[in-house]
Amino acid sequence: MLERIHSMRRGAQFNEEGEDDDESKTRKNVSLAVRVTILMSKIGFLWPLILLFVTLLLFSIVMLSRRLVCVSSYEPSSRMNFFGIDGLESDFGSLGVPWCRSKHGRTVEWTSKDLLKSLEEFVPIYETRPIKNNMYGMGFDHSFGLWFITRWLKPDLMIESGAFKGHSTWVLRQAMPDKPIVSLTPRHPEKYLKKGPAYVDRNCTYFAGKDFVDFGSVDWGRVMKKHGITDVNRVLIFFDDHQNELKRLKQALKAGFRHLIFEDNYDTGTGDHYSLRQICDQFYIRGGGHSCFRDSDEARIRMKRKLFWEKAVDIQELCGRGEAWWGVRGEMRDNFNHSNKAMSYAEHFQNSRFVESVLDVYWELPPVAGPSLTHQTRYDPARVPSPIVEDGRFGLFQRLGLTRLETFVFNGYTQMVYLQISEPGS
Ligand SMILES: C[S@@+](CC[C@H](N)C(=O)[O-])C[C@H]1O[C@@H](n2cnc3c(N)ncnc32)[C@H](O)[C@@H]1O
Ligand SMILES: *[C@@H]1O[C@H](CO)[C@@H](O)[C@H](O)[C@H]1NC(C)=O
Ligand SMILES: *[C@@H]1O[C@H](CO)[C@@H](O)[C@H](O)[C@H]1NC(C)=O
Repeated sequence: MLERIHSMRRGAQFNEEGEDDDESKTRKNVSLAVRVTILMSKIGFLWPLILLFVTLLLFSIVMLSRRLVCVSSYEPSSRMNFFGIDGLESDFGSLGVPWCRSKHGRTVEWTSKDLLKSLEEFVPIYETRPIKNNMYGMGFDHSFGLWFITRWLKPDLMIESGAFKGHSTWVLRQAMPDKPIVSLTPRHPEKYLKKGPAYVDRNCTYFAGKDFVDFGSVDWGRVMKKHGITDVNRVLIFFDDHQNELKRLKQALKAGFRHLIFEDNYDTGTGDHYSLRQICDQFYIRGGGHSCFRDSDEARIRMKRKLFWEKAVDIQELCGRGEAWWGVRGEMRDNFNHSNKAMSYAEHFQNSRFVESVLDVYWELPPVAGPSLTHQTRYDPARVPSPIVEDGRFGLFQRLGLTRLETFVFNGYTQMVYLQISEPGS
């Protein structure tokens, strides 16, 4: 496109030069009025060209301003901008961002309209949160996501693994005021109360402190019976415990659960536990699979993006020994980076095939708003779905009440994911 505009200009200059020559010949012996008339009649044939040029110019201005308004859209392919210039967000557009395939290609029922409407409702709720600065815990994006999904599914029982000071317990409670919660967390949230804000729920069964049991060791049949739950479809599990997500997925499947949310769905090369995002990062997925070759487009793009976004990783960080890029440098990380295990590419590949065989739905929560609005600087917007409030829509951002929140609440986004699962072959 730029090329075409350039050649148009070159053409125009050519004609102007020709005109100048003609004009100089007649300049001395004709009056101004006559000269203008002659000029007009001479360049008359240029009008269609001039019109075309003006139209093209206007068209490009419109496209450029559109780009400022909506930098990206849901489909990675349409993220390529009009001029193909390297925008801050569009770089990975052509490479794509991996995600998990589900068995029958089903997706969620809700739309971006539903998300937008709920966002407006959630902001005033979030403002009443007991833990204002939830450092090391959930920020605004994931709090919204958890609240939205929970309210949509309306479970009869909510189970959370990893509560910290209890912020996520509070979020679940806002979504479902009268439903029971089971919370598994080694340190009871009430312990934090001595030092500062924390949330302890009155209708929550805590497996904490000396009563702590890991999710994988709980007799879930008994717990459900105790809560009068007969239908596993009515149970929602929320994992924020930094454990290998493949391990958690298998444990949840064994207990028969169907609805899961994982808080930290880290991108390949990042994070402290093996995630769904990482598992599904495979060569047969568009944007999946990587190369440790330094002289490649991806290597160059990664290097550039690292300058802008704190959590972006370049090829050097991405690749471990033996050019292992999968998981985190060829490791299956687990338990807050404390029990990592090297894994072969074949093993990583098999993991994705297994995950695909049990997935009915895979849905990543988009960030609530674009980085020019939230001023977040950590995650790379090119590696995530299009935000609910896109860059440039400051009016909407303000109307939703999002300008009232502090910047740090937008800094913790890591592609929270909602999964629906069932046994392979079903
Ligand atoms: C990132 S924090 C959770 C943040 C919390 N969901 C929030 O909303 O702020 C991770 C928590 O997982 C807990 N944890 C560690 N090992 C765990 C395990 N095996 N099962 C459940 N929780 C675990 C940690 O003690 C910590 O409280
Ligand atoms: C606890 O939950 C039950 C239903 O599970 C509800 O009837 C009761 O009102 C709740 N109690 C409190 C204190 O919220
Ligand atoms: C995570 O563990 C690996 C070893 O598996 C180690 O090299 C790395 O430094 C650890 N990272 C952090 C942030 O602790």
